[in-house]
Amino acid sequence: MCGIVGYIGKRDVAPLLLEGLQRLEYRGYDSAGIVITGKAAAGKPGALKMVKAKGRVRELEAKVPKRFAGTTGIAHTRWATHGAPSDENAHPHMDAENKVAVVHNGIIDNASELRAKLTADGVVFLSETDTEVLVHLIARAQAETLEEKVREALRHVEGTYGVAVLHADFNDRIVVARNGSPVVLGIGEKEMFVASDVAALVAHTRQVVTLDDGEMATLKADDFRTYTTEGSTTTATPTTVEWEAESYDMGGHDTYMHKEISEQADAVDRVLRGRIDDRFSTVHLGGLNLDAREARGVRRIKILGCGTSYHAGQIGAQLIEELARIPADAEPASEFRYRNPVVDPDTLYVAVSQSGETYDVLAAVQELKRKGARVLGVVNVVGSAIAREADGGTYVHAGPEVCVVSTKCFTNTVVAFALLALHLGRIRDLSVADGKRIIDGLRRLPEQISEILANEDEIKRLAAEYADAKSMMFIGRVRGYPVAREASLKLKEVSYIHAEAYPASELKHGPLALIEPAMPTVAIVPDDDLLEKNRAAMEEIKARSGRILAVAHQVQEKADHTIVVPKNENELDPILMGIPLQLFAYHTALAMGRDIDKPRNLAKSVTVE
Ligand code: G6P
Repeated sequence: MCGIVGYIGKRDVAPLLLEGLQRLEYRGYDSAGIVITGKAAAGKPGALKMVKAKGRVRELEAKVPKRFAGTTGIAHTRWATHGAPSDENAHPHMDAENKVAVVHNGIIDNASELRAKLTADGVVFLSETDTEVLVHLIARAQAETLEEKVREALRHVEGTYGVAVLHADFNDRIVVARNGSPVVLGIGEKEMFVASDVAALVAHTRQVVTLDDGEMATLKADDFRTYTTEGSTTTATPTTVEWEAESYDMGGHDTYMHKEISEQADAVDRVLRGRIDDRFSTVHLGGLNLDAREARGVRRIKILGCGTSYHAGQIGAQLIEELARIPADAEPASEFRYRNPVVDPDTLYVAVSQSGETYDVLAAVQELKRKGARVLGVVNVVGSAIAREADGGTYVHAGPEVCVVSTKCFTNTVVAFALLALHLGRIRDLSVADGKRIIDGLRRLPEQISEILANEDEIKRLAAEYADAKSMMFIGRVRGYPVAREASLKLKEVSYIHAEAYPASELKHGPLALIEPAMPTVAIVPDDDLLEKNRAAMEEIKARSGRILAVAHQVQEKADHTIVVPKNENELDPILMGIPLQLFAYHTALAMGRDIDKPRNLAKSVTVE
């Protein structure tokens, strides 16, 4: 999704901003642009200088003229919403006099009304974007200071925004504002940064201030201040970002996806670290803000997320039902928020999100909070909007995830759910012995993950074997079903091969009609009480000449090929069984020459409707 980066200080700004944009590339975008305050000539303020380009940041870089000097600027990567990707629609946008420049993330809902009014007043629009109305509103604002001009403009605007504004007449500052779209200030020594994502800042400073909705800030080279859109001052204490700048590098891998798949043993080790309490065979999750009495009062758990996080939530719901015996289910947040959900005071709501920014999840959380519900967050990015909005929760500690398709964060999220389920279970009826059994299982995970990853060559060979498929079926039962869904999503996202996931039990109720040699099936076959049922499903497929790749704890005779994964406790098996299929999707996409880290049409965090 769109990205913002800005700088004010003493250094040459263009290279800094271009580097910042590169660090935001992973979020997905289709055009980019940069505007800087040029050097002031005698007695005159420096004019704004702008370059924009459809395509990648490197195409923008190629267009930046040699003489493009300045020490203040803002830049943007755009993901088209209003108007096609083009040079004109790329941000920044400027007014006719080239005095005001704006970069904007989010969507202005009443842009067409505002555009009509401004056009009637004689304003000529240069782009089809919603953002441009904001530029003209600021340019025409009567207020004296830039802060007041921006505030005056924002008063007319409905919708979401993270914005950064430059003004040629106020060239000692950048003014920024946030409503529903992240804005992070980076505090340096006699220099200040702003970005929509800490990824663009950490190479320069790890001291950050995350703005709240309804907050604005003025950045000057040696100073910043924050205040509300109403004008009252707010206190902002910088916090330190834990993630190292190096964790955003590729670290010797050819893609972030491969790097992130490979990091999973360490990532799981991190989510477990310091949380296991052997004395009571349970875990401590410090941030839940839910005491034992409250936890016992929970009668139902509803998990909300999108995409991969939703699938992690499905496994989470099963873990909670199995270990804590609390009825639980997961639903796409994007659906939940639009169906006027019945919000029940005895239900605990859990919002799941890698980025902590996904708009559909955030909106669901806000709707729930408005109706008085208690909401926990299971989130990767510390201090993100969903983490802040929730009443409590747990971080999944996967570290930065850069590839658009999620791998290590999925695994860590499921492990975080196992911890939550164990915690809730031990407060209720899960025995000490079962608690210990699960803890021992959790401790085995990192080594077992390394074992799976060591099998990469074999998985790569199998990916080549199935690469001719135009379409693939993924099946699993109960614990295996969400694994099948996530594996199918991984394959289609990154390779663009059509894939469907079905409960193995539903095969005979329809999808069996599709089975033929050209439609291979990936079957999730854990060694549990449903093993025979899964074997029967494979038999049905074989009888229709379907090819089968099984992921199982022992070689499956009915399958053409089996990826054997190490056995853990039944409840924890889903955590491991998806991992070889991440590599399967990766190698399939690699062989097909796909843009692995940035699949077409997808964005890392979808911060708009
Ligand atoms: C986007 C990404 C998916 C991701 C989903 C939820 O659609 O392309 O990979 O699973 O958002 O993201 P979140 O950050 O909330 O987990």
